[in-house]
Amino acid sequence: MSNSCELLPVRGSFLDFSGPVEEIAELESKARYLEDGLMLVRDGRIESLLPFAEGLKALPDGLRIRDYRGKLIVPGLIDTHIHYPQTELVGAYGEQLLDWLNKYTFPTEGQYRDFDHASVISEFFLRQLLSNGTTTALVFCAVYPQSAEAFFEAAERQNMRVIAGKVLMDRNAPDYLLDTPQSGYDDSKALIEKWHNRGRLLYAVTPRFAPTSSPEQLEMASALMKEYPGVYMQTHLSENKSEVEWVKSLYPSNKNYLDVYASFGLTGPRSLFAHSIHLEEAEWRVFSETDSVISFCPTSNTFLGSGLFNLAQARKNKVRVGLATDIGGGTSFNQLVTLGEAYKVLQLQGYKFTPYEAIYTATLGSAQALSLDDKIGNFDKGKEADFVVLDLTSTPLAQLRYDNSKTLAEKLFVLTTIGDDRGIYRTYVSGRLAHARG
Ligand code: GUN
Ligand code: ZN
Repeated sequence: MSNSCELLPVRGSFLDFSGPVEEIAELESKARYLEDGLMLVRDGRIESLLPFAEGLKALPDGLRIRDYRGKLIVPGLIDTHIHYPQTELVGAYGEQLLDWLNKYTFPTEGQYRDFDHASVISEFFLRQLLSNGTTTALVFCAVYPQSAEAFFEAAERQNMRVIAGKVLMDRNAPDYLLDTPQSGYDDSKALIEKWHNRGRLLYAVTPRFAPTSSPEQLEMASALMKEYPGVYMQTHLSENKSEVEWVKSLYPSNKNYLDVYASFGLTGPRSLFAHSIHLEEAEWRVFSETDSVISFCPTSNTFLGSGLFNLAQARKNKVRVGLATDIGGGTSFNQLVTLGEAYKVLQLQGYKFTPYEAIYTATLGSAQALSLDDKIGNFDKGKEADFVVLDLTSTPLAQLRYDNSKTLAEKLFVLTTIGDDRGIYRTYVSGRLAHARG
């Protein structure tokens, strides 16, 4: 490849946040907006981002500039909790969590014993992410190790920075979906050895949730975390009131739901707990003390009738929070839609979710949640060049609202309120064009 091919100049308006962000109150001062900028990408990494006239001086002659004037370029969107095998069941009618799992989710995930099926849906799933501007995700596979193999192979073909894991579940589900503490450990270990840190891929030890793992299995999950300190842990926590009661009956000697995971050493800075809605005060303290992380899944929480996530408590306790779709409990792959639903969930609790907090949460905030903010999440020099070109006027209504919006904040708010996949104009992964609308 010639030098010119390795250097990609991109022109447009740019918005990101300089990190690290410790206080939400300081967010607006951390926003960096460049009305007419030129970003240089070399070998998949950001080399510079400068005002256009300045950037042009450093540009070798004869290079074609990707000209996105009139569009807004933001860092690639990040989804911190999603199930790829549930792509097929989005919008399943009428049930709350435990019945929804039994009626829809478990039978669907049973199909992922078949490697070819898992490959086909993995490809479809990744295309959905990219056409929605999502370039990084923390992903649940199914219980079968081949479902994770198929997924990692597909993600490697896209060179995406994704984290994924085979589900661990050894009880309280149909037999065809169960592993054992030993087989779950062995299969996870083999997947970690093969895929963790291969290219941009990372592994997450993935106990589904406390009800479907025996104490022995949680012990084995903890052993894996100790053996491989760089790997992640992902699970569900306190999503639904019947689930919380069930956990109390299954683990009667634990203080609360989070204490089940904590007692096995499964809390920590690389541990992500989806939902975390019905928490007790003591659980918030454990989140703070252990620097554990929450994935906020607004479309799922309303769709499954689970409840309202308390972002104010998380901010007060300095708990990192990532944004997540939770497909297939969630109803949209699109993080603009998800931010719109987050606004409504928070509005119902009297919390004002500003457009800056929204865009931050979908980008740098989620990168911090995944401890990946040294690699992705903003346009700092040396970061991996995952970015999205947004069209703020993609529909007649969007155009009308854009025209009568005065400030950038207003335009961003409209984007996260009425925006959807039509607003995703281009998606770049590691400097490569990975999706073009239409
Ligand atoms: N709790 C345990 N498994 C699941 C799942 O697949 N989706 C959701 N939303 N919650 C869960
Ligand atoms: Zn989930």
